[in-house]
Amino acid sequence: MTTQELRTPLTLAVLVGSVRQPRMGRLIADWFTDRAARRDDLRVDLVDLAEVPLPLADTPPGGNPASPIAERLAAADAFVVVTPEYNHSFPAALKNAIDWHHREWTAKPVAFVSYGAGSGGIRAVEQLRLVFAELHATTTRTGVVLTAPWERLDWQGRLVDDGPLGRAADATLDELAWWGEALRTARRDRPYGS
Ligand SMILES: Cc1cc2nc3c(=O)[nH]c(=O)nc-3n(C[C@H](O)[C@H](O)[C@H](O)COP(=O)(O)O)c2cc1C
Repeated sequence: MTTQELRTPLTLAVLVGSVRQPRMGRLIADWFTDRAARRDDLRVDLVDLAEVPLPLADTPPGGNPASPIAERLAAADAFVVVTPEYNHSFPAALKNAIDWHHREWTAKPVAFVSYGAGSGGIRAVEQLRLVFAELHATTTRTGVVLTAPWERLDWQGRLVDDGPLGRAADATLDELAWWGEALRTARRDRPYGS
């Protein structure tokens, strides 16, 4: 790694995977993004899919270069996907956003912040691992799992960051940063697939 890269923070894109209104997803993503932004090894970009028009009919194989977020995803060295569990899987809007892109995910790490009623969204995460494997992305073992996050809100409607939750977020970011740095160097030294 060059001295320049040592000084350059990794760009982390945090994707909000639920788009319905009202929703829990944005406040969970805001909590996680605030936590990530405290680190000097990361530069965080919050990508809220509810704010991005990605029509379902426009998903050619290999990604759509007209995507309004392609540049932001391409600039990312690592991703965090904030996902709920819908009917034992992940939201359709999230899958659509994944399918709109292709090279943007390649040879990059993806971590998950999941939530749900009973299982903390882990069924959504296990299925997303298969999707990202197809896109040549690697998923981290460590993640944040929130069961019934609506029971963890303070009087202002913000997620209460107790010890274990904050530590789970930090452990996730530690692992993601390791992969992010390793793969940034690897992509530079030998472009993926060459
Ligand atoms: C269509 C739908 C299906 C759901 N299915 C599940 C489920 O299978 N497992 C679960 O734990 N929670 C399930 N839930 C509860 C959600 O996890 C919970 O409502 C969560 O807040 C959804 O995230 P959002 O508010 O960001 O959309 C479901 C919610 C919706 C709207």
